[in-house]
Amino acid sequence: MKDFKNKIMVVTGAGSGIGAAIAREACLHGMKLVLNDIDNEGVKKTVEEIKNMGGTAISQTADISIKENVQALYDLTMDTYGRVDMLVNNAGVAVSGPIWELPFQDIDWITEVNLLSHAYGMRIFIPKMIEQGTEAAVINVASTAGIMISPNGVMYHASKAADVSLAESTYLGLKSRGIKNIQVHVLCPAFVQTGIHESDKHRPERYSSMSDSYYQGQEYLSGLIRGTRQVTTGIPIDSVGMIVFTAVEDNKFYIFTHPESIIPAGQRLSKMVNGKNPD
Ligand SMILES: NC(=O)c1ccc[n+]([C@@H]2O[C@H](COP(=O)([O-])OP(=O)(O)OC[C@H]3O[C@@H](n4cnc5c(N)ncnc54)[C@H](O)[C@@H]3O)[C@@H](O)[C@H]2O)c1
Repeated sequence: MKDFKNKIMVVTGAGSGIGAAIAREACLHGMKLVLNDIDNEGVKKTVEEIKNMGGTAISQTADISIKENVQALYDLTMDTYGRVDMLVNNAGVAVSGPIWELPFQDIDWITEVNLLSHAYGMRIFIPKMIEQGTEAAVINVASTAGIMISPNGVMYHASKAADVSLAESTYLGLKSRGIKNIQVHVLCPAFVQTGIHESDKHRPERYSSMSDSYYQGQEYLSGLIRGTRQVTTGIPIDSVGMIVFTAVEDNKFYIFTHPESIIPAGQRLSKMVNGKNPD
């Protein structure tokens, strides 16, 4: 995809970090934006930024892990612009911890935001892209955590691995059915300076209780400290939008913010191929 002028981009989780950065880059490419976030203040701030850049943006404040809200985002896009050219499934949350301690609500929350919202987005927006028949792109923002493993953040790893697989299988699924106008990509960032270490701020009401003793325990607290250190010492956000657009222009499926991310992924595959265990 090379022609972006006046095309329509939908971004979930656009009130902060990578989603906001991709939206700003899209504005520089002349695209019009439909921005979602659960955080009303955050998404309104991104809309203001786009308007200050001379661009056009509208917003939806909603929990995108609820499929009716994804449908409402689609309806808003159709009512306003009548078409969709790029979908960025970006919303994501992180909580660290081993599966045998993690509260059930976090198993659900992480899966719903990091995986199901992306699947719902594809299910609801791709048919319109097929019907249009014009150049279109879908980008799932997964993570390096989706192609490598670590002893921490097990549900985060699992949700991101599934998101990578969702994008890969959709890429092949479209190709095998002769649908050529839709590019699919997966963005696998390593650490980037965003607000992801403060995901608890974006808990929907149904998962907002922090009364489980897990949240006072060592695993949760050390996860917060580790996450804060990793994210705040990550690369600045500035280059991410450009990295994404260059990959879309070149139709490169796998997008990395850190080229060295591929090394642990390669080591993991090599263990599988050589019949070794994951350690
Ligand atoms: N920052 C990193 O180091 C890093 C690394 C790998 C992957 N990622 C991925 O990048 C994506 C963007 O995260 P970020 O780093 O910009 O973090 P961020 O916290 O700055 O942005 C995430 C946005 O998603 C929104 N969000 C959360 N739950 C939502 C919901 N239910 N509905 C709608 N919006 C919701 C948040 O309000 C926030 O604005 C995520 O999928 C994350 O997993 C980030």
